[in-house]
Amino acid sequence: MREILEAIAPLYDQHDSEIARDLGSLVRGSLDIAVTESPQQVDACFVLSEFQRGFSPLADLVLDKSDLLQWRLVVAGKLPAKFTDNMAAVELIGPTGMIKNDKARLGFFIQAPNLHYPSHWHPAEELYHVVQGRSGWAVDDLSLSDKNGGDFIHHLSMQPHTMETYDEPLLAIWGWTGELSADGYDWKRD
Ligand SMILES: [Fe+2]
Repeated sequence: MREILEAIAPLYDQHDSEIARDLGSLVRGSLDIAVTESPQQVDACFVLSEFQRGFSPLADLVLDKSDLLQWRLVVAGKLPAKFTDNMAAVELIGPTGMIKNDKARLGFFIQAPNLHYPSHWHPAEELYHVVQGRSGWAVDDLSLSDKNGGDFIHHLSMQPHTMETYDEPLLAIWGWTGELSADGYDWKRD
């Protein structure tokens, strides 16, 4: 786990924001904290085998170590199966994370190709970092804009946001600060 955290921490030096500084500190402060959760797979972990290797050292590291991670359903029970069967998340650090911390949540997110994750929102402020997978991202009612490995996407508290994968899967790092409860999470039904 330490190898993963050491690879993630410097990413946050590339984004000039309070949330990036907070998440960078969170990761650096977690290097020596014991993991208290066991590895787990969910159905959507089929996506892990669909990534093309060699895109970046970080992407390959996460994929190589994915068996050590506790994958979970995304916002369990709040989205229909067509979404939860095709996306999964790891909470590496957080109140219910593999490494316990009450200040923030941070982890990985995978989404299968050709899937539109409808507009959703939550009380936490959020910073995504795309690790691999060209994908479309939008906030509010704006149209999708393409992001690729290395890009950051910043969502404010309760700001609606949308992600859409194209012909390749998405691997991203997400981080939440502020109000960390998922109770205020909701999504737009068409
Ligand atoms: Fe979000």
